[in-house]
Amino acid sequence: MALSLRFYGVFVVLLVSLLLSKASSTSHHEHHHQLKSLHFALFQHETINRTGYIVVNGVGGAGISQTTTPFGTVFVFQDPMTVTANRSSKVVGMAQGTSVTSSLDGLQSISVAKITLRLKHHSGSVSIVGGTHNVKPSDHPVVGGTGDFLFVQGYVTSSPVNLKGLTVVYKIEFHLYWPPYATQGS
Ligand SMILES: *[C@@H]1O[C@H](CO)[C@@H](O)[C@H](O)[C@H]1NC(C)=O
Ligand SMILES: *[C@@H]1O[C@H](CO)[C@@H](O)[C@H](O)[C@H]1NC(C)=O
Repeated sequence: MALSLRFYGVFVVLLVSLLLSKASSTSHHEHHHQLKSLHFALFQHETINRTGYIVVNGVGGAGISQTTTPFGTVFVFQDPMTVTANRSSKVVGMAQGTSVTSSLDGLQSISVAKITLRLKHHSGSVSIVGGTHNVKPSDHPVVGGTGDFLFVQGYVTSSPVNLKGLTVVYKIEFHLYWPPYATQGS
């Protein structure tokens, strides 16, 4: 009797510790899913010699065309961002930044930008840095933010929508995540 009780006790301890380890791994998993996040898309409009300028000429490689710039070209922009691809739609953001042509075929660049956002429930800025391809979608890591976007992480995907004409349009998809320490107490 005493023996079987002890055996039963060991069994209960084992069962409880099993359940606890399962519970802790589950709660870790759920915690990940509870990260505050925000997903939305805006449209960036860039007009050559009006919102975006070449400030340093490149040194070689590809020539200037609708989609290429010579290696080393430094471009600076301040582009409005709207809620639809129509330039007349509501402006809710501004992208200020610079890009340097970094591939000899003239199609890729390294971009740094601060995107100021005035959304319904969030205002502030996100800063991004990464490689941009002129004719293919590119992911740019979000390195941080200000205001309601303080400590924000994630990435933005930039995809060309219209590369013809004086104003080129890119769709910018935001995937923003607030780490736990950014949302504590809010
Ligand atoms: C933009 O300005 C530069 C320098 O004045 C000029 O060479 C270029 O042709 C202009 N580009 C367009 C598309 O107007
Ligand atoms: C863009 O929006 C304006 C104003 O709402 C409208 O008049 C125009 O037809 C729209 N353009 C396109 C291509 O949808």
